[in-house]
Amino acid sequence: MTQVVRTRAELRAALAALPRPLGLVPTMGALHAGHASLIRASRERDAATVVSIFVNPTQFGSPDDLARYPRDEAGDLALCAAEGAALAWLPAPADVYPPGFQTSVQVGPVAAPLEGAARPGHFAGVATVVAILLGLVLPARAYFGRKDAQQLAVVERMTLDLGLPVEIVGCPTVRAADGLPLSSRNVRLAPAERAAAPVVHRALMAALALHARGERSAETLRAAMTATLAGEPLAEPEYVSVADPLTMAELERVEGSALLSLAVRFGAVRLIDNERIG
Ligand code: PAJ
Repeated sequence: MTQVVRTRAELRAALAALPRPLGLVPTMGALHAGHASLIRASRERDAATVVSIFVNPTQFGSPDDLARYPRDEAGDLALCAAEGAALAWLPAPADVYPPGFQTSVQVGPVAAPLEGAARPGHFAGVATVVAILLGLVLPARAYFGRKDAQQLAVVERMTLDLGLPVEIVGCPTVRAADGLPLSSRNVRLAPAERAAAPVVHRALMAALALHARGERSAETLRAAMTATLAGEPLAEPEYVSVADPLTMAELERVEGSALLSLAVRFGAVRLIDNERIG
């Protein structure tokens, strides 16, 4: 049974009764097998797992995008129960942001390019809400998907910089059989767009294959991704990147580790994906 709490007071009381160490899986709901894998990773290490489900308004660029975000409370609670989460915390905005709220966590250059450039204010919203969630739950570990690799890098940087006493655990991307990463946004793809979307992962695989054959020029790897995407008329690339995985700065040569990442639009839906080298 997963206990469900909403207010800060209910959360505090429920947390007091849970065994330690605690794991936290922060989510925005519409839970799928990707989220389930994070809960499972926590269940393997922590004595109790808390799942937060909060569609955080401050990380959305437009009220429309926020309004369109899928919500499925009953399905989410069923998934939490099936995966053995001890607690599901579903706060209202006022439980997360108290009256008079006026604090923001701004992470520097690692949050600036790629998703940060495409979505101004997004990572300040993410970093601030994650800091609040960590502060209210005080877990020993918090779990994040590598699917959102820059988000993970931003959260790791913030945790280190602020000295937060939590271990940030990055977990592998869960994909559909055709390579498309599971995402709550996938349900908004029209059938033809859904059929075209695996080109995103194929583009990453093309660059990985070149690298495996010895190619070290980042520009050549970017060009391979761009060329693969160009073969799919429904795919509109927003960025194609080969960057340092810690700083997110674009590389000229791939001599050590690198993050290959891209954002591609299919109609109104924007998909992101990445693969790590090294
Ligand atoms: P959300 O998009 O709900 O994702 C919650 C967590 O699930 C994130 O760490 C994300 O990287 C991970 N995740 C999503 N799809 C995944 C997949 N296919 N495989 C593995 N992990 C996956 O990311 C957020 O919410 C928010 O920004 C949040 C961190 C909760 C702050 O509001």
